Amino acid sequence: MEAQQPPPQSKSKYLFYGLTAVTVSSTLFLLPFIVTPALPRKLYGALPYQNTPSKHIKTALKLINNRIATNPPPNPTSLPPKKLKFVDLGSGAGEATILASFSNFDALGVEINPSLLLYSRAASVVSRSPCRFKSLNLINLPFQDYDVLFMFGVKPLIEQLKPKLISEVRIGGLVCLYRFKLTSMDEHFEVVGREGEVTIYERTSKRT
Ligand SMILES: C[S@@+](CC[C@H](N)C(=O)[O-])C[C@H]1O[C@@H](n2cnc3c(N)ncnc32)[C@H](O)[C@@H]1O
Repeated sequence: MEAQQPPPQSKSKYLFYGLTAVTVSSTLFLLPFIVTPALPRKLYGALPYQNTPSKHIKTALKLINNRIATNPPPNPTSLPPKKLKFVDLGSGAGEATILASFSNFDALGVEINPSLLLYSRAASVVSRSPCRFKSLNLINLPFQDYDVLFMFGVKPLIEQLKPKLISEVRIGGLVCLYRFKLTSMDEHFEVVGREGEVTIYERTSKRT
């Protein structure tokens, strides 16, 4: 008996649905990287995704490590010091977190966008980085658990974050900002490194 072939009409229907699914899913995945950055800024205003260029991440890690070398955190035990904890607040494609892990930090990236999380996790596997990525709104992260906070200022959040930075960043903790500055925070944060658009702040002991 001959096997029944689907009619040619339903074959092309499956092909159509298959192609639509592939197009929609790849557009969603590429949205933060290619689709939105390609839109004209004049029409669409501020674009949702921009990453810190690698050379600025490397500058940031160099400045952070210089500061830690000149001002090491206290180690009251006789055990070898633990790796310092680094977090990228809004880790995007994950490069800063991955490079921090290769710079001997216990590195975590927190990110709200699921396709960027997927991408960064894949990038960490490919690069064999021991870093981790967490799906989290950075507002809900306890900043006091980290030695170094890295952030390519998420503009709408920066003002909202100031009280959290003041109350949660531990004394001596470092905050590294690319592009953005912590204005009117001199009482709480001292600039301990700056090169180009990268600034490193240290939480001072003053409390209000
Ligand atoms: C300007 S990109 C910076 C990416 C990466 N940190 C870098 O420097 O290359 C900001 C990232 O923050 C993420 N983001 C924005 N608001 C967030 C929030 N409330 N919680 C977690 N991630 C957030 C965005 O999805 C985006 O990936």
